[in-house]
Amino acid sequence: MKTGDKYYITTPIYYINDKPHIGHAYTTIVADMLARYNRLKGREVYFLTGTDENSQKNIEAAEKYFKKSDLSKKEIQNYLDEMSAIWKKTWEEMKISNTDFIRTTEPRHIEAVKKFFSRVWEKGDIYKGIYEGFYCAGCEEFKTESDLILGKCSIHKKPVKKIKEENYFFRLTKYREKLLKHIEKNPDFIMPESRRNEVVSYIKEFMTDVSITREGVKWGIVVPEIDNQVLYVWFDALLNYLSAIGFGDDEKKFKKYWPADLHLVGKDIIKFHCALWPAMLLSAGLALPKKVFAHGFFTIDGEKMSKSLGNVVDPVEVAKKYGRDPLRYYLLREIPFGEDGDFSFARLEERYNSDLANGLGNLISRVFAMAEKHLETLPKKQEKYLKDFWKKYEEDIDGLRLHGALSLIWEEISKCDIIIDKEKPWELANSRKQENKKTKKQEEADKIKLQKVLNDLLNRIRDIAFALQPFLPDTSEKILNKFESEKPAKGESLFPRLEK
Ligand code: ME8
Ligand code: MG
Repeated sequence: MKTGDKYYITTPIYYINDKPHIGHAYTTIVADMLARYNRLKGREVYFLTGTDENSQKNIEAAEKYFKKSDLSKKEIQNYLDEMSAIWKKTWEEMKISNTDFIRTTEPRHIEAVKKFFSRVWEKGDIYKGIYEGFYCAGCEEFKTESDLILGKCSIHKKPVKKIKEENYFFRLTKYREKLLKHIEKNPDFIMPESRRNEVVSYIKEFMTDVSITREGVKWGIVVPEIDNQVLYVWFDALLNYLSAIGFGDDEKKFKKYWPADLHLVGKDIIKFHCALWPAMLLSAGLALPKKVFAHGFFTIDGEKMSKSLGNVVDPVEVAKKYGRDPLRYYLLREIPFGEDGDFSFARLEERYNSDLANGLGNLISRVFAMAEKHLETLPKKQEKYLKDFWKKYEEDIDGLRLHGALSLIWEEISKCDIIIDKEKPWELANSRKQENKKTKKQEEADKIKLQKVLNDLLNRIRDIAFALQPFLPDTSEKILNKFESEKPAKGESLFPRLEK
């Protein structure tokens, strides 16, 4: 490991007007997989997730919850505390290995926001103006006529608010050329490519200066330069990526981790992450994140996930029913990372039975059952037993082709099955008495061959288990533990078949 070899990865901080659903779990699970992978590579990983609390959506949800509209600050904060705790607990239950969990109502965040704001203010990038237009509280976004369909937000299908207020604006357009140049020079900055093109066209054709304060909003961060207004929630939220690692407070920590190696987001929030955010950083004289990867969105059995359709999938329930690892496996294998996909319980069960129960689980049971019978000891650990595998595996993960890395692992599982079919260890194990064609010499040769075949299979399985570590942490641990015991033992089945 090189000194200073670190990996800073973030998820979006989520709104807490409701509990997490499978979409949020998806982003968080992918981030967890990458965090685990980078830890195994010996890097010092900072894996950040958290909650976006200064949003109007949260306040509206709190009002619904308390069934009144004039909530006190204390009531709001209580609601946020409770909701944020649910998110935190969800990630704990899903065994997400985050280093930190940031809340935008924490003092460490508010202090960092104030410091950052002052820098941008002193740079002269903030000016007073009149904002006249629309606002969608669902998106927490200022909208133009072209974003609307019949007067409603095209995403939330709800009426937008028409507003006219005197607010402060951020000179986003001042950074247009710099942003375009950076994107051009760093083709990996925005991935996948389709998203990069979308961002470039937005920056070139549609980007305007953006209002960064809101009037008449009672919840949000207040900065000394501006009175009577609170900061626009996105300007505040994006700064979580700095405040968590000590911006303006712990210079050593900040220097160590910034810039982020990867902001993982859904495609719904790329404009904020690939235009507003880098422009804010340029204004403050800070380095830009190395990469923003925007993954696709998924539907549930072909339909948009929504409360009114009643098809919102709770990740904790899925994990309880099928196991954490089968859920991770399904999400990471089924949807080519970056593309849109569909979450279907039927497909999840198919994948479970074919790839996990019949594939991986069955291989482990068969090989360990034979080893229990025919081997005294387990083979000693060898560094990287599989030959052409590891390079491709790392290339896939480094290139964020996560489903590709899983396919590679399953190819290795199939190779083991092929070896078993070809070598027929059960025939090698037959004695002369059972099979009177065998001579004594043959019996002995078969015995040696059998041990060789089983050792080869076990070595392959151990590498497979290592490769599975970031993807299926529980399962890989169970398999690797089998190698720690004195004698080979069949043990329990890893993935009992699901019955219809
Ligand atoms: O946007 N499929 O928070 P949010 C895949 N607070 N991913 C999905 C998904 C789906 N159907 N639905 C949600 C916010 N996601 C802001 C972020 S960051 C400084 C502030 C995931 O609660 C995906 O990662 O609306 C998406 O970008 C995110 O949840 C939006 O979460
Ligand atoms: Mg959203």
